[in-house]
Amino acid sequence: MKEKLEQIKADVEGILKDAVDLDTLENIRIKYLGKKGELTSVLKGMGKLSKEERPKIGALANEIRSRLEAELDEKKSAISAKLEEAKLKAEVIDVTMPGRKQPEGKLHPLTKVLNEIKDIFIGMGFQIADGPEVEYDYYNFEALNIPKNHPSRDTQDTFYIEDNIVLRTQTSGMQVRVMEKTKPPIRIIAPGRVYRSDTVDATHSPVFHQIEGLVVDKNVTMADLKGTLEMFTKSLYGEDTRVRFRPHHFPFTEPSAEMDVSCFVCGGKGCSVCKGEGWIEVLGCGMVHPKVLANCDIDPEEYSGFAFGIGLERIAMGKYDIDDLRLFFENDLRFLDQF
Ligand code: DAH
Repeated sequence: MKEKLEQIKADVEGILKDAVDLDTLENIRIKYLGKKGELTSVLKGMGKLSKEERPKIGALANEIRSRLEAELDEKKSAISAKLEEAKLKAEVIDVTMPGRKQPEGKLHPLTKVLNEIKDIFIGMGFQIADGPEVEYDYYNFEALNIPKNHPSRDTQDTFYIEDNIVLRTQTSGMQVRVMEKTKPPIRIIAPGRVYRSDTVDATHSPVFHQIEGLVVDKNVTMADLKGTLEMFTKSLYGEDTRVRFRPHHFPFTEPSAEMDVSCFVCGGKGCSVCKGEGWIEVLGCGMVHPKVLANCDIDPEEYSGFAFGIGLERIAMGKYDIDDLRLFFENDLRFLDQF
């Protein structure tokens, strides 16, 4: 029995010497020292021993067990330390390596220009108004002095949702929505998407953006309109920019005008961007029609106002020298990345 015990010790120590992983250690522990292990099965034969021998063998078995357990623990720490070291070595971080470039998000050019325009008007005391793109015929047309069968409805190829509900063709309906809710003085701009059933080409899109402007107060005149829009233009395009107003017609303003700016490319001499004109049309404007004020319960005898509608794409194309409207909506990263 003693030899058997010594044999177990020798076997375990032999395997331990060459063991390199924790699994091997655990297997040895189970095989030799476990509840059903070899040491236990040897001790089961103790009953056959004499009274004198029994304590001696018992003591020897205990000694061997604790010796082996200690050796196993020691080996376990040694292997763990080695594994840890190997792991750290493999994980070495070279802080001198160049970093991986993260692609950077950018604001869309239309958003950038819109933000700039908002800032300019906010600086002049305007507030920002917002309203629905799916709009009642009443706000988009009727209240703006554009009755059914009015010829100007033909020029705005309208998407109809229902008989009296449209995708707004202009932001001008926001004038009515604001005046219905707010007593003058009013000073707002209302930027947003508008829709017209146009065929897509370099200068047309069924979706585009306008910025509506509205000022209503006592004694507002055409001079206020001109001063405000000239100030806006110079802030946006630079102090040297000139503006001119041409008479025009819109049903909801009287008188009405279109405003041109001196070409931001050639400064007015004439080039391919302004088609030799020296001027580029950027917005429609006018004095709010008395009928429109009255439709909103604002007394045209007491109050007057001016309004304007800016085409955002047109402004952005000029500012960034972009010659095709479609680029704004294709969202090609090679294009968007340039702003
Ligand atoms: N809503 C007009 C359009 O889409 C633009 C416009 C013209 C707006 C004159 C105005 C304005 O507020 O006074 O063509």
